[in-house]
Amino acid sequence: MSAQPQVIRREDYTAPAFLIDKVELVFDLDRDVTNVKSRLFIIANPVRGTGAGNEVSFDGEDMKLVSIAIDDRKLGVDEYSVDKTGLTFTAPGETFVVDIETQVSPVTNTRLEGLYVSQSAFCTQCEAEGFRRITYFPDRPDVMATFTVTINADKATCPVLLSNGNLAKSGDLDGNRHFAVWEDPFPKPSYLFALVAGDLACVEDSFKTVSGRDVALRIFVEHGNEDRCDYAMDSLKRSMKWDEEVYGLEYDLDLFNIVAVSDFNMGAMENKSLNIFNAKYILAKPDTATDMDYELIESIVAHEYFHNWSGNRVTCRDWFQLSLKEGLTVFRDQEFSADQRSRPVQRIKDVAQLRARQFPEDGGPLAHPVRPDSYMEINNFYTATVYEKGAELIRMMHTLLGADGYRKGIDLYFDRHDGQAVTCDDFAKAMEDANDVDLTQLKRWYSQAGTPSLSWKGDYDADAKQFRLTVSQKTAPTPGQPDKFALHMPIAIGLLGKDGKELVSRTVQLTENEQEFVFDNINETPVVSFNRGFSAPVNIATQQPHDELVFLMGNDSDAFNRWESAQKYATALMLAAIEEFEKNDGDADGALGDVTDFITAMRATLQNDDLDKAFRADALVLPGEEFLSEQRKPANPEAIHQVRNALRKQIGTMLKAEFADTYHQNVSNAAFTPDAQSAGQRALRATALGYLVASGDAQFADLAAAQYRNANNMTDRMAALAVLNHLDHPGRAEALADFEERFGKDTVVMDKWFGLQAMSSRDDTLARVKDLMSHPSFTMRNPNKVRSLIGAFAMANPRHFHAADGSGYEFYTDRLIELDDINPQVAARLCAPLGKWAKYDDDRAAKMKAALDRVLAKPEISRDLYEIASKSRA
Ligand code: ARG
Ligand code: ZN
Repeated sequence: MSAQPQVIRREDYTAPAFLIDKVELVFDLDRDVTNVKSRLFIIANPVRGTGAGNEVSFDGEDMKLVSIAIDDRKLGVDEYSVDKTGLTFTAPGETFVVDIETQVSPVTNTRLEGLYVSQSAFCTQCEAEGFRRITYFPDRPDVMATFTVTINADKATCPVLLSNGNLAKSGDLDGNRHFAVWEDPFPKPSYLFALVAGDLACVEDSFKTVSGRDVALRIFVEHGNEDRCDYAMDSLKRSMKWDEEVYGLEYDLDLFNIVAVSDFNMGAMENKSLNIFNAKYILAKPDTATDMDYELIESIVAHEYFHNWSGNRVTCRDWFQLSLKEGLTVFRDQEFSADQRSRPVQRIKDVAQLRARQFPEDGGPLAHPVRPDSYMEINNFYTATVYEKGAELIRMMHTLLGADGYRKGIDLYFDRHDGQAVTCDDFAKAMEDANDVDLTQLKRWYSQAGTPSLSWKGDYDADAKQFRLTVSQKTAPTPGQPDKFALHMPIAIGLLGKDGKELVSRTVQLTENEQEFVFDNINETPVVSFNRGFSAPVNIATQQPHDELVFLMGNDSDAFNRWESAQKYATALMLAAIEEFEKNDGDADGALGDVTDFITAMRATLQNDDLDKAFRADALVLPGEEFLSEQRKPANPEAIHQVRNALRKQIGTMLKAEFADTYHQNVSNAAFTPDAQSAGQRALRATALGYLVASGDAQFADLAAAQYRNANNMTDRMAALAVLNHLDHPGRAEALADFEERFGKDTVVMDKWFGLQAMSSRDDTLARVKDLMSHPSFTMRNPNKVRSLIGAFAMANPRHFHAADGSGYEFYTDRLIELDDINPQVAARLCAPLGKWAKYDDDRAAKMKAALDRVLAKPEISRDLYEIASKSRA
């Protein structure tokens, strides 16, 4: 990058001057030089404004232009111009045909955008702007065309040839090559184009749609992985059924293909009828995948499938509208998982995730609205804000309109906009029109960044038998948005009587900066259960007294708030202790003081057999170090680590007998099944093991080592390894060596092994991470490897990443700089942890800023990394 990258602004949107009716692509696949012929049937956009002119401008990057012809006449070099970003020429009229021939090099494509090689297969990733690395094209989502794709390739190395839509023709060619022609009848933007070619195994099944059509379902994987596709396939079928039942949406083609590849920048991609997945989110069998992996597979398979309607049939007009499809589709996959498993447990997971990933984003230098106003590199905006906060926005609409009103809005949206590229406003308008409501204020969630903070105060009037609840909201300034408006949010409230009985359950609408809500006929001072189910995605500044939190932990009918009360209590204790620790110079136990009341409440949760086990497992987990760091300024990573561990130790010590019982009662000798109930049992047992080991009693480290050795599934194996991982116990080295020997050849499974070591709190962790970079299974070219070793070190090991001597930052910065030349998109994503400098003490902040300066001084820094590093430095 020589000049500063251009800023793209939402307000500058203009409709495309030319549209494309039909695209015909011919690929001559070769690892080194792939030839791409593209025939485009172009028409001037009838809605284009005056002054659109007759200049045609196509995007294109990193490829060689072989030739261009208009209406079958080859253009001379003076009839077009081509540079590093694209191709321009003059339109001969209103409708015309363009032929473009380009050459690209899949094998040197380490950015994994466009056409690249993963293991030995060819595959593509075009969202957001990868198609322009395949051929010159108006690479924007509001240009939608039908695609016919011919793939020519070597028969031996590429027996499988896939693209979007239906297979129209296939056959042999000279020179041991063959071809396939794919036709996609649904007009689509270029970002949904996909091609796969390689020697892949295939697992087949089928689904009968509600109207009786049979859809062939295929999952393509590397040979040898055929026995790891069952769960993904089952998840796909359940997703298809759920979308019919809950949204009335049926699949629209006779086949649906999924391909799993090892090298992938993100989780997965919803290309029309040809989803491409990071193999990590497809492959699972009991001895290679944990319960968490199964859950993720289920939700990501569903997510990509749901995009067929929310994303593909109705897509985004421009990339500022990304949350139109992502927020909606995340909400859909969250609800699917809630229906498949436990609803409260799902909500707890989703909220924990939002707090761990989105709240820090909203409170830091990269804060942006759900619908951003500007970007330098759109790939940097596939964020927790666009996805998860976007989903919360849709959830609030659902809460406001009710399930039926929401569904009416959804029906109108798909009816009105099928086949179109639309905006977030169009979505909200459909919701408004179908329900005859005004969502103007709720829509501010699309445009206003930052997490609101709510305070509340209750006032009981015994004479009037009235309870008044005063609620106020405030959102702190974020970059570019100094002043904030009051947002509209639904707040679910419960009022509980002394005996635990529910007096009131009501959702109030907060629309003002400060507002009073009155509850009549209340006969006693109630305990307030505020923001039940996390009905609004906000922080709550009000501290409830500890005895009320204990009361709610035991009595709230809202399971989410039972969990939340435990989190709040634990947070309050730990924050107070962290402050004390800093004063008393490092005595974590002394800093905690007497925590008996808290632990007694934890015991009650542990032993409450009315609560399901997955819930209990979650409710017993203390808020994480990253979450605690967010609440402190400056955050002291060592203090946070010590205090949290000290509390874990006290819990483990005080509840040793109870956890030992839990551990032994939840042994299962049955064969592993990934269902929610069995997973909950394993999770509770793992929690018990964690606390037993935390007690410091050496016999339990032996127990963990034994669990590792005797495990008959990956969940139990990883649970044991996760606790051994921080110890000096000989079982640790033994288990890690065994793991490597068992799974050394298995790239997806080895990611766990790398990740664990990067997350260890042991003193030798950084040295070990450095060594592991030269492990034969590690490569900077594979994003999963980079994320599990390098990413996990920065994002899940605050104590070592923020080591006071700066060694963590230094190592990390070297990696970012190295990675930027290989894969800028992944490098940019990994840069965010350095941007948190404002949260730390002056010394750490100075070191982090120096690290960012070093990143920014890199010659030829990518646009991706530049945007994140420069915004983080500001
Ligand atoms: N649309 C995909 C999904 O949410 C994500 C693809 C993002 N890819 C990227 N390079 N930014 O499922
Ligand atoms: Zn998505």
